[in-house]
Amino acid sequence: MYWRILLMLATAAAAPLRAEDRPAQAGDFIEVFQGLFGEHKGERKGHAKGVCAVGSFTGSAEAARMFSAPLFSGTRWPAQIRFSMAGGDPAVADNARSPRGLAAQFELGDGRVHNIATLSTPVFGAATPESFLGLLRASLPGPDGRPNADRVAAYRAAHPDTLPQFRWLQQNPPPWSYASAQYFGLHTFHFATADGERAVRWRLQPRDGVRGLTDEERGAAPRDFLAARLGERVARGQVLFDWIVTLGQPGDSESDPSLAWPDGRTELVAGTLSVTAVGGDACTGLNFDPNVLSEGIRPGDDPILKMRSPAYAISFGKRLGGR
Ligand code: HEM
Repeated sequence: MYWRILLMLATAAAAPLRAEDRPAQAGDFIEVFQGLFGEHKGERKGHAKGVCAVGSFTGSAEAARMFSAPLFSGTRWPAQIRFSMAGGDPAVADNARSPRGLAAQFELGDGRVHNIATLSTPVFGAATPESFLGLLRASLPGPDGRPNADRVAAYRAAHPDTLPQFRWLQQNPPPWSYASAQYFGLHTFHFATADGERAVRWRLQPRDGVRGLTDEERGAAPRDFLAARLGERVARGQVLFDWIVTLGQPGDSESDPSLAWPDGRTELVAGTLSVTAVGGDACTGLNFDPNVLSEGIRPGDDPILKMRSPAYAISFGKRLGGR
């Protein structure tokens, strides 16, 4: 028996875990992004293409009554904002069938900040970091320089959590403008209340309405139009997004952003984000780490959300260092 245990230990030590069998590490994502999108020194390793903007957020009276977080007190908090295209290619075409991003850093005074970094899809592309990493690895180009569609399809079939976002992107056209997309927080957060806290999810709803590119517009679209279209829109007046909070019910998932909560949950308008200027590079040196939150708001127990901080930190360090 004793010898058998020793033999087992020796075999385990001699056979290190294969990369795909060990828990995903933040550095794995940075590596696979480079494999997928190439090396782009000094750029964000995800959401490489984007445009800075500035504006502010003001909480609603209803949110101030319900939640104790200063973010929702009704004070107008200045915001640094960035709109972006998903992926690590700084030259990706603006009509791509991929998520758009809206990140913001709200400045609550005395050095306090609150970050959000959202996507235009109502669900995320996988339930866990391991599943997401596996999907990205399955999508890597083969020796012929092209991704293997069969391998990706087989991976998706074996990992059904990767299907809802994929299907949504197939069924919904890319946004006509950064100002005409909804942006979803996707993860569950806990908002403090007078007598405890509420599990919530939330999205930013464009006052301009949701508008996608028609097939014709998509075909005729130039490579770059989103930043200019947003600039033209803001030149005519502020762009507003209502921050819609959905109140969770017992049993709603707080760990899986690939699953939407059931319909019929109570919603409230918790405030309004205003975008007042576009351009400049004030957002370039910011890391919109979505776990940097302000008083009265804490993250849900979500492994994808937890993975984001170390991945963003590596990307941030690299790009600041010109790598
Ligand atoms: C394990 C999952 C994820 C990984 C590994 C990942 C990785 C990254 C990385 C490396 C960056 C670049 C950060 C920088 O250089 O500042 C980035 C940016 C971004 N990510 Fe993620 N991400 C993940 C999930 C998500 C999710 C769930 C969302 C939305 C809810 C999201 C939205 C964004 C946005 C909007 C940006 C651009 C931020 C900016 O404009 O600076 N990501 N991501």
